[in-house]
Amino acid sequence: MADRNLQVVLASRPGGRAEESNFRLVEGEVPEPADGQLLIRVKWLSLDPYMRGRMNEGKSYAARVELGEVMVGGTVGEVAASRHPQFGVGDKVLGSQGWQRFALSDGKGLVKLPDPRLPETVWLGAAGMPGVTAWMGLTQIARPKAGETLCVSAASGAVGSVVGQLAKIAGCRVVGIAGGPAKCDYAVKELGFDACVDYRAGGLDAALKAAAPEGIDVHFENVGGEILDAVLRRVNPGARVPLCGLIAGYGGTDIPIRNVFSLLVNRVRLQGFIVSDRMDLWPGAMRDLAGHVGAGRIRYRETIAEGLEAAPRAFIGMLQGENFGKQLVRVA
Ligand SMILES: NC(=O)c1ccc[n+]([C@@H]2O[C@H](COP(=O)([O-])OP(=O)(O)OC[C@H]3O[C@@H](n4cnc5c(N)ncnc54)[C@H](OP(=O)(O)O)[C@@H]3O)[C@@H](O)[C@H]2O)c1
Repeated sequence: MADRNLQVVLASRPGGRAEESNFRLVEGEVPEPADGQLLIRVKWLSLDPYMRGRMNEGKSYAARVELGEVMVGGTVGEVAASRHPQFGVGDKVLGSQGWQRFALSDGKGLVKLPDPRLPETVWLGAAGMPGVTAWMGLTQIARPKAGETLCVSAASGAVGSVVGQLAKIAGCRVVGIAGGPAKCDYAVKELGFDACVDYRAGGLDAALKAAAPEGIDVHFENVGGEILDAVLRRVNPGARVPLCGLIAGYGGTDIPIRNVFSLLVNRVRLQGFIVSDRMDLWPGAMRDLAGHVGAGRIRYRETIAEGLEAAPRAFIGMLQGENFGKQLVRVA
């Protein structure tokens, strides 16, 4: 039987938490490339927290997905047919083909996998967008120095795990914050963090104090809410806080910052950033990260959902912490 295309489209906008009914599977023909186009067979789809924001009606830093449109997403795929001068059948490509099995491309924003020696999925994780996010927050905002204490939330995740390992390479004491003993064990025993606090266990303030007895010089924030408040009680004067994500609020929960006073008295520099603002820095960052991965200095873990049909459930699970490391979907 000939291949059929399968797409996951946005069926409705979530009121709070995303639900499976917000997505719809659509089957269709595999499209044919016109002159100057190529057809990509998606092999791997990356699921990332930012996609939750794209499902909303309101304005954000990037365009929303319209109802009935294919969900956006980073992908690794293989060229299945080509009428494009720079891509041939069999080329492995990194792009943003979204939640679908097959996609046409005019080549814009598409790159051939930079180093065939590394696993394909690393370009969606530690050496891809999440890794570059970690790299950017550290090099452009935090600038950690040897001997400083760096704290990172969602520490076992795609971004957090790279933040902590890059900070170890820079000579910092690294404290992770993660949900549950398994994720904390992993951060310490496999990623080499100095300590990890399980925020689900209760007693966050005391645990942070024990893990960072000399206070916190850099906090890389991925979560917000109670975690940010607890860290702000432990920051040192002159602390830097790259504000990368606020996942505790992505389901619609209000997450005010309660310890604003600490920002003032400690002269804290808190700065939000979006990784796509500095595309000029990506190639160098990816080379740097790939080098660390290839040399075993950066390790990573993946959670893989099987088949595009499993993507909505896996995405919702990731927003609730069910993933362990980079969440991917094996599409083909
Ligand atoms: N600014 C940018 O350009 C940029 C780019 C990429 C990613 N980000 C942000 O970076 C953050 C991490 O992304 P990622 O791709 O690396 O995802 P991830 O950490 O691999 O997965 C999300 C993790 O967030 C944690 N989490 C979910 N809800 C939470 C809550 N209420 N309280 C505490 N932790 C919660 C869960 O880990 P636990 O089980 O440990 O709670 C979950 O596994 C997200 O906020 C994302 O939006 C920002």
